[in-house]
Amino acid sequence: MRFLYLSIPVIIYYILNLLFDTWLPNNYVFDPETLNKLSNEVIAKHPEGNTTLILEDLAVSLKDHYGDIINPLNQEDWLFNVAGGAMGTMFILHASISEYLIFFGTAVGTEGHTGVHFADDYFTILKGEQYAAVEGSLYPEVYLAGETHHLRKGHAKQYSMPSGSFALELAQGWIPAMLPFGFLDTASSTLDFYTFIRTAYLTGLDMGKNLLRGKF
Ligand SMILES: *[C@@H]1O[C@H](CO)[C@@H](O)[C@H](O)[C@H]1NC(C)=O
Repeated sequence: MRFLYLSIPVIIYYILNLLFDTWLPNNYVFDPETLNKLSNEVIAKHPEGNTTLILEDLAVSLKDHYGDIINPLNQEDWLFNVAGGAMGTMFILHASISEYLIFFGTAVGTEGHTGVHFADDYFTILKGEQYAAVEGSLYPEVYLAGETHHLRKGHAKQYSMPSGSFALELAQGWIPAMLPFGFLDTASSTLDFYTFIRTAYLTGLDMGKNLLRGKF
C-alpha cells in the first residue's frame, strides 16, 4: 500500500511527460519563429531603441496577429516578479494552461536562477541583452536585441539582464507547474502580498477567460 502512495507522483509525472510530447502541443497557438519575426519587425522600426514605443508597437502587432487571446498593453497591470532570486517587472499578454506570453524586463538590472520548468521557454530580447550560463561555463552566452534564447524543458541556467533590458517571453508546457517558482519567493522572502494577490488574480483570470474561449 505504501508503495502505491509513493508511486502516485511518479505515475502523474510519467503521464504529464507523455502528454507533453504528444497531446499538449496540439493546444499551442504561438510559435517562437513567428514571435521572433514580429519582434524583429518592430525592433527594425525603432532604430533609436525607444523601449516604450517598441513594447507598445509589439503589443499592437501581437493583437493584430493573434486577436482576442492577447491582452492589450496598459500601464496598470504591470507586476513585480521575483523568482529564482531575480527581480523584474512583467506584463501578462496571455496566460493559459499550456502557454504564457509576457513582457519581462528590468529598468535596474537583475541576476538569478532561471528555475527548472516543465515547459520550453523562448526569451526574445527586445531591448538590452541577456547573459546566460550553465554550470561550469567560464564564458556567458550573450543574447542581443532580436535574438531568441531557448531554455529547454528541465534545464536550468544562471542569467542576468543589465539595466534597461526587456524581452518577450513565451513558455509552452505545463504552465500551472511553473507557478510555484513564480510565487514562492513572495511567500518565503519578499512578503509582498499585494503583488502576490494581483499576480494570482491576473493569471487566474486570464487562464479562466482563455479556457472559456476553448484555449487550453
Ligand atoms: C520614447 O517615446 C515616448 C513616446 O513618444 C516619449 O514620450 C519618450 O520621451 C521617448 N523616450 C526616449 C528615451 O526617447
